[in-house]
Amino acid sequence: MLVFEGQDEVIAVAVLEADVDTPSMWDLHVVAIANEHQGRRTMTEVGELPLVEVVLDTAMKYAMDHGAKAIRTIVATGNTRSIRMLLLQGFKRTDRYDKDYDEYLASM
Ligand SMILES: CC(C)(COP(=O)(O)OP(=O)(O)OC[C@H]1O[C@@H](n2cnc3c(N)ncnc32)[C@H](O)[C@@H]1OP(=O)(O)O)[C@@H](O)C(=O)NCCC(=O)NCCS
Repeated sequence: MLVFEGQDEVIAVAVLEADVDTPSMWDLHVVAIANEHQGRRTMTEVGELPLVEVVLDTAMKYAMDHGAKAIRTIVATGNTRSIRMLLLQGFKRTDRYDKDYDEYLASM
């Protein structure tokens, strides 16, 4: 679990986990930005970027540094905000998970 903190508050969390049988495959369980920080941009070394992009870049780099070659996640078919986030991050829809969720994969 990666926790992103601002001044005395949690701004975002990302939860990832390596698959027990295939350590190069990681699951992205959750990405969440605190309500009042959703839609925000943040200053980085390369200029201003969406906070959510920085959070995901950081989380995915952490996974790669710990052996991930691919990251998968499931998302509700109606969750357009999350789907846009994943597509912008380079995830591709790979399969239907069940009647309400689709599976997405990002390969490194
Ligand atoms: C889903 C969630 C993490 C998205 O974060 P957010 O800060 O709300 O992001 P937004 O959708 O407002 O996007 C902000 C900007 O970043 C851009 N953006 C989003 N994801 C991006 C990415 N991966 N890379 C680059 N840009 C991205 C958007 O296009 C938007 O740009 P714009 O302002 O020019 O239109 C956030 O809404 C959230 O925490 N939701 C509740 C929890 C949840 O549903 N989590 C996902 C399932 S686990």
